Order: sequence, then structure tokens, then C-alpha cells
Amino acid sequence: YPITAPDDISSCVAADTGVQDPNNAVRGVACCPPASASTPKPYVLPQFTDLRIRPAAQRLTPDYVAKYKAAIAAMKALPDDHPHSWKQQGKIHCAYCNGAYSQEMNGRPDLKLQVHNSSLFFPFHRWYLYFYERILGKLIDDPTFALPYWNWDNPTGMMLPAMFEENEAGATNPRSNPIFDPYRNVAHLPPAILDLQFRGTESGLNCVDQISTNLSSMYGQMVTSATSTEAFFGSDPVPDVRSTPGTIESGSHTAVHIWVGNPRMPNREDLGNFYSAGYDPVFYVHHANVDRLWKIWKDLNPFANKDPITERLVERIVRVLR
Ligand code: C2O
Repeated sequence: YPITAPDDISSCVAADTGVQDPNNAVRGVACCPPASASTPKPYVLPQFTDLRIRPAAQRLTPDYVAKYKAAIAAMKALPDDHPHSWKQQGKIHCAYCNGAYSQEMNGRPDLKLQVHNSSLFFPFHRWYLYFYERILGKLIDDPTFALPYWNWDNPTGMMLPAMFEENEAGATNPRSNPIFDPYRNVAHLPPAILDLQFRGTESGLNCVDQISTNLSSMYGQMVTSATSTEAFFGSDPVPDVRSTPGTIESGSHTAVHIWVGNPRMPNREDLGNFYSAGYDPVFYVHHANVDRLWKIWKDLNPFANKDPITERLVERIVRVLR
């Protein structure tokens, strides 16, 4: 792959978040992980016996919601400097999106690592969720725990999932919902219908028209405009060339970020800005759907388009074998 990961974590520098008023940024702009005495070990994929199956958020059983909330509560209870804590996990997004790391690319050692607006988008977020999900499962001692996905491409999922509301109906202990985040747009709580083309201005459509507009925009992003690997994934990052994002990244994915973030905050925190997005539990449930759409697109294009990661691995293996 044309980028290298930062293999020296301590090379992290203060992020350049580009946010207004960084000194008052609500989440802070110091995104580096805590210093560690030991050298990070290369990750080895574990053996697994139990498959994790991600469920749609709008169809979760009350038990599943309780389990998910317990896992996030346990994460929030870890000390802030613990690598698995809610804060450290949230900072990852900031560090990899706001220039905290440099990388080498095509012989240029000093380029800033940015995982958006290119083909890095799908794989980076897949890894991010992979570890996040494993941490949550570990915290509640459930090796099959899987993140729910916010099924916003389906009419039954085109609202913020109710479990994220501060006082979810029927909550036994309201006001202590661990997956509630105060930095969200209060005008977009249920029953507001999501606008998958949202860029900051309300569409004014009634709910039937909004749903059908959403469906046709999903069809465009998954089918009519996603006819090549590059169109769907975005282009590869190349030094000094502006890469382009894929159809899902620039379309519905970004719309959901802006739609959930709070327009009264200076930087549309939390979901509406790179540096703060990882602090809202909605982020991971939103991205679980992005990850799912990758799989769906692959299944829709079984012959013409492999995902670029597999393609490059295969190329490399073939080269080694020759
Ligand atoms: Cu790293 Cu949804 O963005």
C-alpha cells in the first residue's frame, strides 16, 4: 500500500486541527497517545471460534442495548491514560486525521498522514472499529460482542437510533445514558428523518419525500456512480496530488457527520469535525454501517472490482513468487 503507518508512536506531534479557537476546543486538540515504555508489537491476528455478527441498531433487543451500554460505560470508567479508555480511543480519530503523524510515501519522509478523502478511508476505519469492538467485548467479557450498525440506508433506520437519546423511553435510570452525548444537534433527534445529502441546510422535505430522496441518493452512491473501484473507494494518496474521496465517503457518510454534529458549537462538535468525532459513541455505530456498505458493494461487484487492499496484496504475492 502506498503509505506507511507511523511505527514510532512517540513521533506524534500536536495535531493541527484547523478548528476555530483551538484553545477552547471542547475536546482538546492534544491527540497523541500516552507515552509508553515498551515498544509496540506487530499485531498478530488471533485465532477465533466465535463469529461476531453486527446487528442493525433499530432492531436491537433491550438486552443487546443494555449490553452495548454496559460496554461503553466500562470503557468510560477506565482511567483516561489507559489505551483502551473512551478518551484515548476518541483521540485516535484526531491523530490520524489532523496531521499528528508523518509518514513516508514514495520516498518523501515528511508527509502528514490523513486517512480521509482517499482510498485509505475504508480500511483505516475498518481497523479502528475492529479494535474498538474487541475492547468493548473484552470489557464485558463477551467474545462475541459486535457493534450495532446504524442502518441509515434503510427507511426503518433513517432516524438517530433511539438508544442514543438522553432519556430513552422506558429507561430505568434516565439521565445516565452512557451513549448520550450533549454535543449533537437537538433538532435532529427522533422523529427527525435523516437527510443523506445534508450539508448544513435543512431540506424542508416531508418525511415521505425525504426517505425517497435518501434512497435514490444511496442508489447513486452504491450503484450508478460506483462503477469502478476508484469511484467507490476514492483515489490512492499520492504526494502533492489531491486525492478524491469515494462515493460513500463524500456522500452519505459525510452528510451523517454534519447532520448529527451540533451546529451551535464552533466546530460542529462532536460528529461534525474530524478532531472531535471519535468522542461520540454514534461515530462507531455510524461507521459500522459504512463498513457494511463496503461489503455490500463488493458483493454487488464480484467480478469486475476487488477491493484495492486485496488487489495489492495479491500483486505483491505474485511478484514475490515469480
Ligand atoms: Cu474518519 Cu466518518 O470519519
